[in-house]
Amino acid sequence: MKIAIVGAGYVGLSTGLGLASKKHLVICIDIDKEKIEKINRGILPIYEDGMEKLLKKHRGLNFKVSTDISDSKDAEIIFICVGTPTDEKGKMNLNYLKAAAKSTAGIIDKKHKTIVVKSTVLPGTTEEILLPIIEKESGKKVGKDFGLCSNPEFLREGAALKDFLGPDRIIIGEYDKKSGDILEKLYRDFNSPTIRTNIKTAEMIKMASNAFLSTKISFINEIGNICKKLEIDTYEVSRGIGYDKRIAPYFLDSGVGFGGSCFTKDIKSLIEKAREMNYDPKLLKSVTEINTLQKIIIIDLLTKKIGDLKNKKIVVLGLAFKAGTDDIREAPSIDIIRILLEKKARIHTFDPKAQDNMKKIFNEITYSKSAKEALDKADACLILTEWPEFTKLTDKDFSVMKNKTIIEGRRILDKGKVSNFEGICW
Ligand code: UDX
Repeated sequence: MKIAIVGAGYVGLSTGLGLASKKHLVICIDIDKEKIEKINRGILPIYEDGMEKLLKKHRGLNFKVSTDISDSKDAEIIFICVGTPTDEKGKMNLNYLKAAAKSTAGIIDKKHKTIVVKSTVLPGTTEEILLPIIEKESGKKVGKDFGLCSNPEFLREGAALKDFLGPDRIIIGEYDKKSGDILEKLYRDFNSPTIRTNIKTAEMIKMASNAFLSTKISFINEIGNICKKLEIDTYEVSRGIGYDKRIAPYFLDSGVGFGGSCFTKDIKSLIEKAREMNYDPKLLKSVTEINTLQKIIIIDLLTKKIGDLKNKKIVVLGLAFKAGTDDIREAPSIDIIRILLEKKARIHTFDPKAQDNMKKIFNEITYSKSAKEALDKADACLILTEWPEFTKLTDKDFSVMKNKTIIEGRRILDKGKVSNFEGICW
């Protein structure tokens, strides 16, 4: 099928290259000229496992990019994959989405097209905000002249292509049956359970999924905080409860809390929406409170161990919000570094991928070339990202510290190689 993707971010590129790998004809549109030029030269704006290989294979053949939406005029399906960032209060910024809806409307002609919203939005957004823009700008009628669907993505950074090509489920929120049929046909050979529903419900399924996963993490962090006081290893508890099929073993790793652009943003906007509707979302509020608390707990533990942090050399190993990415959006490391700076600690850090991004936020801290270099004469070390290379650290690496105080915010060190360390919840 002929597919257009509006937005060449990680959702747009995973969707576009994923569909190109399924032999569809794909064109990816983005207003960022520099980004498009780079992709045209084979350089991706993000790192995703397997993506470079797919770009190499399909670029110029059945995968093209452009800054001009009119290049996608003959598309049968148009996916809108632009970002929906939130402001401080949790309000979603729909400007990119509205602009995408407007430009998409400009290419609706006599040939039937199905517009599919993949961007994460609050329930009601597609039909109440985007649809009126598309109808007004195109002068066409939904359900008659063009189709409309919501098709949320559940892609994890670092595994986005894998998640796109082998999803646990495909959610199709359809305005009308014809639109849903067209989208279902596109996913025909994905062999994943497909749920067809209305647009608003599909939008809520995405929100609820992220809210539930965040809740699971905050739940296990709360259990972890209790376990710590009782001198119980939380990870053994997670293993014990995870065998229960109703609980499942995933997302039960306690630590410094969740980061990343999605969880924090989506849960904030869902809380905001609930309040707007005069409902007080007590559980969701607690989920974010616990997530904030984890960063205070790790600093309290550090202070308990080494006293006043003023002028102490504190090493932060790991800046990315999770391993396998250079993304630092909402990373626990940001809040932790901020608290350490307030307490006048001297901060030295190391991260194999995320240092350049962090330099844009914190200029006043020291970025090292390796974990070992950072650890030299340190008073304490906090581990905040589960980079596999940190598992290789041994007592010898830590022996350069002035005072061997190691606290894990992510469980990563090997007890056989490192002695005398403790975890935030273990
Ligand atoms: C998430 C969702 O998984 C994905 O479906 C959605 O589309 C986008 O948001 P992502 O942000 O890439 O994906 O990261 P994910 O792997 O889910 O981890 C999120 C955060 O939770 C990370 O900071 C991670 O370290 C943390 N986490 C995860 C835990 O603290 N404990 C866990 O058990 C699992």
